[in-house]
Amino acid sequence: MSNAFGAKFDKVCEILDRYEKRPTNLIPILQEIQEEYSYLPEDVMTYVATAIGTSPGSVFGVATFYSHFTLTPKGKHVIRVCDGTACHVRKSAEIIKTLEAELNLNAEKKTSSDLMFTLETVACLGACGLAPVVVADDEVHGAMTKEKTIELIKSIREGEVAHA
Ligand code: FES
Repeated sequence: MSNAFGAKFDKVCEILDRYEKRPTNLIPILQEIQEEYSYLPEDVMTYVATAIGTSPGSVFGVATFYSHFTLTPKGKHVIRVCDGTACHVRKSAEIIKTLEAELNLNAEKKTSSDLMFTLETVACLGACGLAPVVVADDEVHGAMTKEKTIELIKSIREGEVAHA
């Protein structure tokens, strides 16, 4: 198959073959698929269910049970704000609000409509001395303020424009 749809399932088939299409390997299969797509697309989960001989409901059940799995696409840039105790005391909530306003997100909508940003809150990152901490695409930014947060988003956007 040469179209994009076919290519998508080629990769899934490769993963399924590696795990011998065994239902007991469902979790590692889903983990690899998520690494590939950054989320679990619905059509792929249905495909996996058929391939391993189980019902789509069972696959969805596993995917929704583990918080590690995500069923919605993530943005190109993932911004994680620590909301552990030390960061919370140092006003991480203000940073979350700033990001939500800047990216037009809210408690339910975590990914921007242009799929450029996903905002996540995480528990203590183990860098409390740098509180409040924001991790943007695995890069740690400490002692964040509202102003620095806006600058950070601006520089990511400028980087996107430069690479367009
Ligand atoms: S509470 Fe944020 S790094 Fe520890």
